[in-house]
Order: sequence, then structure tokens, then C-alpha cells
Amino acid sequence: MSVDRFARKELNNLRSAGARARGGIIESSDTINLGAGDPDFNQPDFIIDAVSDAMKEGHTHYVFFGDPDLKKAIADYYRKYGVEVDPSQVFITSGGSLGIFQIFAAILNPGEEVLILDPAYQGYTNPIIYLGGKIKRAKMKKNEKGLFRPDIENIRKKITDYTKAVIICNPDNPAGIVYTDDEITAIAELAVEKDLIIISDEVYPEYIWSERKHIPIINKPGMAERNFILGSFSKIFAWTGCRTGYIIAGPELSGLLNKVPTGNLETPVPFQKAGVVALEQGWAFVEEMRQEYKKRIEYSVKRLNEMPGIKCVQPEATFYLFPDISELGISSQKFVEGLYKEEKIRIFPGSNYGPNSKGHVRLSLVKPVDVLTEVFDRIERYVKKIQ
Ligand SMILES: Cc1ncc(COP(=O)(O)O)c(C=O)c1O
Repeated sequence: MSVDRFARKELNNLRSAGARARGGIIESSDTINLGAGDPDFNQPDFIIDAVSDAMKEGHTHYVFFGDPDLKKAIADYYRKYGVEVDPSQVFITSGGSLGIFQIFAAILNPGEEVLILDPAYQGYTNPIIYLGGKIKRAKMKKNEKGLFRPDIENIRKKITDYTKAVIICNPDNPAGIVYTDDEITAIAELAVEKDLIIISDEVYPEYIWSERKHIPIINKPGMAERNFILGSFSKIFAWTGCRTGYIIAGPELSGLLNKVPTGNLETPVPFQKAGVVALEQGWAFVEEMRQEYKKRIEYSVKRLNEMPGIKCVQPEATFYLFPDISELGISSQKFVEGLYKEEKIRIFPGSNYGPNSKGHVRLSLVKPVDVLTEVFDRIERYVKKIQ
């Protein structure tokens, strides 16, 4: 008998983007997965040792409200981007995804609207729906290079009396852009004018390839009282399974987060201790990954642009490509399903990120170039077939 009658009603309204992207197809051993943004690099020994040392040293007990050393290390790290915060304004979360949930749990009342950009990372929508909020999307606009960028007038048009917050993703997954100072300033001014909260998802600041700099919006006038920065070790340190994220908030907003009754849902303490070590000693590892991603991006953009019907712009940041396949005359959903069926390559359809990115697909470059060579040979064969 169905247990739907016991369910919180919002559970029935959630989108299952992952399942849709897979299209019900079963994985096999020759599948190459460029779907999820899970870096393929394993942890260096000094991090593994840091976890086991922490356990041996007895860091296996309750720590409430985050390990003070990690909170301080994160506050120190963000000084690199010109942000001065007290460690008490840093919250440790079990990954960025839980951070998103905790922020909404702190601010969102049923019926209130959250404005996300279109395209937007798909992890924002379900927490909003689950908490009874409503999602509005403001279209990004493509610039002359073909990069999706925020459009301040589109954002303004979508604000209503019910809008509580706007989420920006800077650097942006999937659009691959880094917000300019002008874009950040305009959004901050609008937030002050309309009395809105800005949630800025800043999980990719270490993976910027252009001359642009990461500019946290919290430094703009009036923002300390209305900005949550969402961070995560997942991409910075290829740490996805170790589940360490953080939120940086102004002093008053920190008080709201403190009230969210999640209990002790932080990262396991030995990993928090290893997080301190990563922030102290992990930068050569980050640099290695940066060099590797740069090679992958250069190779992959070139291969995609050699295929008739596909246009791929060089991203300013992140390790995602978001090529435009619209000239192939096939929907992004059909394209990814066919690519999986025919060639066993898994990528995500643009429709996962909002209606504005129809005609796009997202590739996560989490494989080395020798594997990518095989990937693009297979994509090329598939594109020839459907043309
Ligand atoms: C933009 C963005 N925000 C947040 C997350 C959440 O990451 P995690 O929960 O692994 O920290 C991701 C993961 O892909 C992401 O791309």
C-alpha cells in the first residue's frame, strides 16, 4: 500500500533531476561519466594521515557548532578575497548541499519566493520547494562570446512583494562565468533597494581561468547584514565524499543560522581537523589540479568546436563546459539519452539547469585527457550519426 499519505506533502513535488538525466538507463562498465561534478583526484597522503592522526589523538567526540580551529582557518582563508570575518561568523556544514538547506531553513517562510538565475545549479530548487517556498527564475543573457551572464533588468523584473532572497553562483556552475565588479555592484544595490537577502554560492573560487578576480558580494555596501556566502571543500580540495562545507554570514544572520534545529550535523570531527591541514598545506595539490583542468579544458573546447553543429565557449572558471548544441536540431534531453545509449557517455542536459539553457549540455571534465580523447571520439561518432 502506498505510504504517500504519510508523506510531508512537499516531498511529492520535488524534482528528481538526477533520475531524469539518467533517463532510466542502466550503467555498464564501458560507461564514461562526465555527469556529476565529482573531481577524479584522490586525496594526498598528508590529508589521509591528518584524518587518522586526528582519530588517534582522540578527536572522535562531540564538537558543537564546528571545530574552532577550522572556523578560524576558513576565516583566515577568506581574507585572501578581502573578506574580514570573525570565526564566530563561520558555520561548518556537512557539504555545501546541506549548507543550502540550512540557509533556507533559517530564512524561508512558506509562500515566499526565491529568485534563481536561469541557468542555475540544480541543487537550489528542491530545498526551496521542500520548505514551501516558490522558485522564480531570472534569465541570464548570452554575451557576444556566447557566455551566459546575469542580467540586472531581468532580475529586477522578477522581484515581487514575496521575494525573500536571490541566489547567485559566483563562479558559476553551469555557465562557467566569474561575476564582474559591475555585475556584483548592481546586484548588491538592487538587494539593498528591495531589502533582499543574497545567497552567494562561492564553491569554485580556486578554479578561475580568465583574468577575472573572485569578488565576494559581502564586501559591497549594505551586504554584511543580508549575505550568506556558501562555500565547500568539495571542489577546492576534491573532497566531495568527505563532506565539508561552510557558510559565512554577517553577525546578525549568523544568529538566525544558530537557531536552525539541525542538531549536530557538521562534518565528522576528524575531517574537520583534516580540513585545517588542507587549508594550511593543500595549495600545491590545488595547483596540480588547476594545471590538469586547464589542459582538459583546452583540449575539450577544441574538440567540441571541431564538431559541426556544436559551439563551445571557453569558460572563465570551473571545470564544466556548457556547449550549445541547438544547431543539431535535437533537444538536450534527447541528445544526452542518445549519447548514453549509443556511446555510453554520460553528460547532463541543459534542461536540468532551467528552460533558458535548452539547447545546451553540460560536461564535467573529471577525467584525464587520454580518457577525454576517447570521450570526444565517441561524441563525434554520435554527432555524425544524428546529423
Ligand atoms: C554551485 C554548487 N554549489 C553547491 C554544490 C554542493 O556541493 P557539495 O554538497 O558537494 O559541497 C555544488 C556541487 O556540485 C555546486 O556545483
